[in-house]
Amino acid sequence: MTRYIKGVLVPRDEIRTMCQRLGEQISADYAEREVTLIGVLKGAYVFMADLARYLNIPCCIDFMSVSSYGSGTRSSGVVRITKDLDTDITGKHIIIVEDIVDSGLTLNHLRQLLATRKPASIAVCTAFDKPERRRINVKVEYVGMQIPDEFIVGYGLDYDGKYRNLPDVSILGDDCQGGSK
Ligand code: IMP
Ligand code: MG
Repeated sequence: MTRYIKGVLVPRDEIRTMCQRLGEQISADYAEREVTLIGVLKGAYVFMADLARYLNIPCCIDFMSVSSYGSGTRSSGVVRITKDLDTDITGKHIIIVEDIVDSGLTLNHLRQLLATRKPASIAVCTAFDKPERRRINVKVEYVGMQIPDEFIVGYGLDYDGKYRNLPDVSILGDDCQGGSK
């Protein structure tokens, strides 16, 4: 299964420390306010579970699933919702939880879309950030870790639907570079 993995970029212990730091920071920033975490499926499912358990404030969770129109590995920024939220976020403090921000186009669209539903506030928390790849300036309030421009898998992130279950964040080998959303 790990034949196509070049090496580990972020080991599980570092990921745990990162989640704890983010959880403590968010808990302090929101104090006793209730937040709604919105996980962007499928990539964010592992991070969402870890982050939520480091929060010590009242918290609801919901998920949405989006697919980005575009060819190959390039995101077009036009996002189609394939699974919408189950809850009404009007008047809620929402935190969009992402696995990784790459070009930023998906997140930019999502931020604008969710803003139209009139939440009390919107913030974004991403596990990983590839700043070198950014094509649009989108606000990201909480960043777990900045990483170099490498295609990573594991900890929720996939290549062609696979490797999401790897506990460490790993770099995909050159023979299968590219990626799926
Ligand atoms: P973008 O910011 O609109 O370009 O797209 C971000 C999405 O692309 C993420 O939520 C991931 O689903 C996917 N993605 C970007 N970089 C990677 C990567 O290195 N590995 C796996 N998925 C990635
Ligand atoms: Mg994603």
